[in-house]
Amino acid sequence: MNPVEIEEAVSNLALEPFDQAEFPFQFLRAFGQKDTALTRLRAGNTNQSDVPGAILQRGNIHIAACDPGRVDETLKALRESPKTTSQKAKFILATDGEAFQAEDMNGGGTVACAYSEFPDHFGFFLPLAGITTVEQIRESSFDIKATGRLNKLYVELLKDNPDWARRSADMNHFMARLIFCFFAEDTDIFLGEGLFSKTIEQMSARDSSDTHIVMAEIFRAMDTKPETREAASIKPYARKFPYVNGQLFSGSTECPRFTKIARSYLLHISSLNWKKINPDIFGSMIQAVADDEERGALGMHYTSVPNILKVLNPLFLDDLREKLEEAGDNGRKLLNLRNRMAKIRVFDPACGSGNFLVIAYKEMRAIEAEINKRRGEPDRRSDIPLTNFRGIELRDFPAEIARLALIIAEYQCDVLYRGQQEALAEFLPLDSQNWITCGNALRLDWLSICPPTGTGVKVQANDLFETPLDQAEIDFENEGGETYICGNPPYLGSTWQDAEQKSDLERIFGHRTKSWKSLDYVAGWFMKAADYGLQTRTVAAFVSTNSICQGQQVPILWPLVFSADHEIGFAHTSFKWANLASNKAGVTVVIVGLQRRRSSAPVLFQEADDGSTVAREVDCINAYLCAAPRTEVQQARAPLNGLPSMVRGNMPYDGGHLLLTLDEVERLSLSDDQRARFIRKNYGGAEFIRGIERYCLWLDDVDLEEALSNPAIKGRVEAVRTMRLASPDKGANEMAKRAHQMREMNIGTNHTIVAAAISSENRPFLPCGVIDNRTTINNKNYALYDAPLWTMALIASRLHWVWVGTVCVRLEMRFSYSNTLGWNTFPIPTLTDQNKADLTRCAEDILLAREAHFPATIADLYDPEKMPEDLRAAHDRNDEVLERIYIGRRFRNDTERLEKLFELYTKMTAKSGRGKAA
Ligand SMILES: C[S@@+](CC[C@H](N)C(=O)[O-])C[C@H]1O[C@@H](n2cnc3c(N)ncnc32)[C@H](O)[C@@H]1O
Repeated sequence: MNPVEIEEAVSNLALEPFDQAEFPFQFLRAFGQKDTALTRLRAGNTNQSDVPGAILQRGNIHIAACDPGRVDETLKALRESPKTTSQKAKFILATDGEAFQAEDMNGGGTVACAYSEFPDHFGFFLPLAGITTVEQIRESSFDIKATGRLNKLYVELLKDNPDWARRSADMNHFMARLIFCFFAEDTDIFLGEGLFSKTIEQMSARDSSDTHIVMAEIFRAMDTKPETREAASIKPYARKFPYVNGQLFSGSTECPRFTKIARSYLLHISSLNWKKINPDIFGSMIQAVADDEERGALGMHYTSVPNILKVLNPLFLDDLREKLEEAGDNGRKLLNLRNRMAKIRVFDPACGSGNFLVIAYKEMRAIEAEINKRRGEPDRRSDIPLTNFRGIELRDFPAEIARLALIIAEYQCDVLYRGQQEALAEFLPLDSQNWITCGNALRLDWLSICPPTGTGVKVQANDLFETPLDQAEIDFENEGGETYICGNPPYLGSTWQDAEQKSDLERIFGHRTKSWKSLDYVAGWFMKAADYGLQTRTVAAFVSTNSICQGQQVPILWPLVFSADHEIGFAHTSFKWANLASNKAGVTVVIVGLQRRRSSAPVLFQEADDGSTVAREVDCINAYLCAAPRTEVQQARAPLNGLPSMVRGNMPYDGGHLLLTLDEVERLSLSDDQRARFIRKNYGGAEFIRGIERYCLWLDDVDLEEALSNPAIKGRVEAVRTMRLASPDKGANEMAKRAHQMREMNIGTNHTIVAAAISSENRPFLPCGVIDNRTTINNKNYALYDAPLWTMALIASRLHWVWVGTVCVRLEMRFSYSNTLGWNTFPIPTLTDQNKADLTRCAEDILLAREAHFPATIADLYDPEKMPEDLRAAHDRNDEVLERIYIGRRFRNDTERLEKLFELYTKMTAKSGRGKAA
């Protein structure tokens, strides 16, 4: 269940008559508990409670519906129950149908309210549904509720107005108008309580036949100045509505037809308290309403405010706060700061429903309010123009919502800092036209939408011939000073981009690099920001998939950005960008801040193990977001470091027909001699790590005739041939000529040193090992055939782990090993014979330590929680020996390791004339 569905279920439960016996089960069902789990709980099988009449579900909740007036003592009993602790209950809850009390046993929060109001606190209990909440969401029950109600109305309206489904821009504009009206009638922007909904209720027929007509008339009034209303024949009931303008009600005021159900939804929505709306959160939530694909995840893709602040604080807000601190009560300094802020432009070129802009605006208003307070001008009108917060958004609904969200944020800030009266006096008419541009940010000219200085906005770019703006551009209120670009542009790997997106990238990168096709879509925003920065004073920071700072994208994108005279001014290394879909579903992102001229030392932010953020001032930040000189590691076909050659394992390309289980091998009924010649053990990545036994057909040409006389083998070879011939890939068709073999047929004469291609980032060392000459590997592993054992010591080292984790591609966070990026580029000092002998001993010790735990697999042995001490000690010695070769002592930490590796890489590539080192 998503939060919207949960909210609805909880609200429905509160409306039903209180049933003491049933309540605990009803409550759990509302949070998505399956009937089977509830049946077992009801039967007592899984009820762990030691409090009479209560229900305790392990790891979840201890809940009791009690007799009237006994809520306090029941909650106390639940709190003091030893089972609450031993069964790790997240919550305790007691209610008698009148009062409702609950406690969060981990976070310590409490809820105490009337029973009828408990749905307002449903966000508090979202962990019961497996949804990890952030602080704000607990307070944003309203936003989820409103999103759910509006979604119902939207769906119902489209049912009865199929033509409006095709007119999505009109429909979205209509929804934005409605939201404005709901907000306005609850905040005294409309005079008279519930003016909008009451007028609809009273003036339109109960059968809903003319709801759309009454509403259209109200909208028309809001687009007509009071002095011209008479002439425009505005109906008397609509004349009570103020003139709003600001393009919100201009143009057609046509409304979709309402069914009776839609009319009742409308009135129901208006009964919510819209004062409570959070324009930043609400906007993100409601985006999904107009999106067929997203609707299922309604309310899930909420972006947390703390995450947005990770971009905005270092970008410019921290600096403003510092200046405020420095200014103290010095009136002139405070004034300078206020003047500076009035000219700051914030520009989000993928703004969605405007959450970055809204938060930037609200934070700046808070600073300004403090300035005004210190200067003794608390009621002063804000000098920060809303229209300095510019955005580009591709989809029209979020673009509509972004503007509305900013309008609402402005009003709420005015109420908060200046008082209701002042806020109202200046709110209407909305004097600004649309300053959020609906269009493709990679095609539009940013300079024309957000010009650095001057008040005008001119559309200059040729690009606009292809994507015309469908609304008037509006000018700025003042000359402008600094411009800050921010946002969370879309991430799309190269295989997921559609033709238009590819062509967006080609237009930006085609003339700069041949390799642009490998770039993620988000790269376009970084390049455009750097190009923009060449024309004006700006700093840009985007949230991005971490893939642009790893592996093959680094040497493609970053030299271009750097050569556009930009550097990384601050960055946040990889972290999960969580949303309500649950923490784990969030993507792994980085934040990269670009600037042209450095005014202070770059700052690198990193998430510590306890989840806190650690900031470090450094000399420079390279494209891998390491505190090291600029270096982009290029793929190398052969080792640059003099190490033995590493190749990828054999590619079966067989549709699974050359691979066999032990059982299948037995069923071939081969003689011992045939078995020795035709069969080899075969490891894929998972088989190697988890010790899964698997075999393959391994047929030399000389043995082919004999092998094919075995019908089962013949059948398998034929199946491979058919599969390869059917492939659209010419190479595969060619391989059909030798369908009895894999693409490569490499195997060690004596042994093979193996490194698994994909591995969990949680293992402290890369999975590697040695296999014998009767075992082969497939393309999910890399091989050093017959290489000396000390090479395994290198792969098993922490230094190599750090290097591979940085310069190779990551799949989410998982390591993806690569010979061309990880092994061939690994910087290593020249090894003496003695070094090699020492490292050989270390590798042997690691293998012996593993042997001592036979039959534990690599997965068992390298589980970070369970790694055996003797194995850990063997790795420790390995690291000790290797690191002494590098610097004569152990490295203090991974940061120091990486810095040294980048230094050596720079030297190595400078010597060999390869690579691009700055
Ligand atoms: C990851 S969302 C971020 C939106 C918002 N900041 C948030 O956190 O919800 C990216 C936004 O970029 C928009 N977008 C995608 N491609 C775009 C393009 N070429 N030009 C402008 N906006 C685009 C999407 O519609 C989406 O709203």
